[in-house]
Amino acid sequence: MTAYFISGASSGLGAEMARQLVARGDSVAIAARRLELLEALQEELAPLPGKVSVHALDVTDAAAVMAAMRMADIQLGGLDVVVVNAGIAGGARLGTGGFARNRDLVETNFTGALAQIEAAMELFRGRGRGHLVLVSSLASVRGLPGTSAVYSATKAALALLGESLRTELAGTGISVTTLRPGYIRTDLSAKTRFPYLSPLERGVEAMIAAIDRRAGDVVVPAWPWRPLGWLLRAAPAALIRRFM
Ligand SMILES: NC(=O)c1ccc[n+]([C@@H]2O[C@H](COP(=O)([O-])OP(=O)(O)OC[C@H]3O[C@@H](n4cnc5c(N)ncnc54)[C@H](OP(=O)(O)O)[C@@H]3O)[C@@H](O)[C@H]2O)c1
Repeated sequence: MTAYFISGASSGLGAEMARQLVARGDSVAIAARRLELLEALQEELAPLPGKVSVHALDVTDAAAVMAAMRMADIQLGGLDVVVVNAGIAGGARLGTGGFARNRDLVETNFTGALAQIEAAMELFRGRGRGHLVLVSSLASVRGLPGTSAVYSATKAALALLGESLRTELAGTGISVTTLRPGYIRTDLSAKTRFPYLSPLERGVEAMIAAIDRRAGDVVVPAWPWRPLGWLLRAAPAALIRRFM
C-alpha cells in the first residue's frame, strides 16, 4: 500500500487518479478548495479498499499547503508520493488588460506548485525517500502564443524545476516525475477546439502507469500526444500561430 497526496483532486485528473488508486488499495489525501466535492468523492470511495483523507486547501496559501501536507503525512502514516496537480488554464493575451488573470495563473500553477514542492521535499529529505510528481502539460514543450502564452510558461517553468530536482536527487531515494499530459477530457480542457481529447479514464491510467514506473519526464498518454509533442516542438512558428 502506497500513500499519496494529490492536489486538485476535487475534479478532473486528480479526482480520477484518486478513484483508480483507492480502488487498488492505496491511501490518498485529496486536496482542493471545493470541500463539498472532496467530501462527495470521499463518500463515493468509502466502499473501496484504500483510505481517503480530505484537505480543504488553496495552493496559493503557502502556510496552508505546509500545514495540509504535514497533516496528511500524519493521517496516512507517511506520504510516499506527492502529486502536484492543482492548476488552472485560461490566460489573457499579454498587453490586453488581463494582468490579474495571468498573475492568478502564475500564482496557482507555479507559486502554488512551488509551495507544494517545498512541503513535500521537507518530508522526503527528512526520511531520505519519496516520490514527487509534477503535472505539467504538453503545452510546456513550446512557447505557445496568445491566450495560451502564460499557461504554457507556467507549465514549462514547472517542468524545468522538475529537471533541476531530478538532476540534484539522482541516486538518492527521492524520485521526481514530470508528467506532460496532452488533452484529456476534464472541465479544464472542455473549451478546447482541438478535435480529439483522450478519455479521462485512459488518460489517468497512463499517468498512474508513468508514476508507478517512476518515469523521469513523459508525455501522457503516449498516443497521440507523444508524436504531436515532437511536431509541436519542431513546427515553424508561422504554423503554430495559424494553428493556435
Ligand atoms: N485536462 C487536460 O487536458 C490537461 C492537459 C495538460 C495538463 N493538465 C493539468 O492537469 C492538472 C489538472 O487539471 P484538470 O484537467 O483535471 O482540470 P480541472 O478538472 O479543472 O481540475 C483542476 C483542479 O485544480 C484545483 N485547483 C485549481 N486552483 C486551485 C487552488 N488555488 N488551490 C487548490 N486547488 C486548486 C481544482 O479544485 P478547486 O477548484 O476545488 O480548488 C481542481 O480540483 C492541471 O494542473 C492542468 O494544468 C490538464
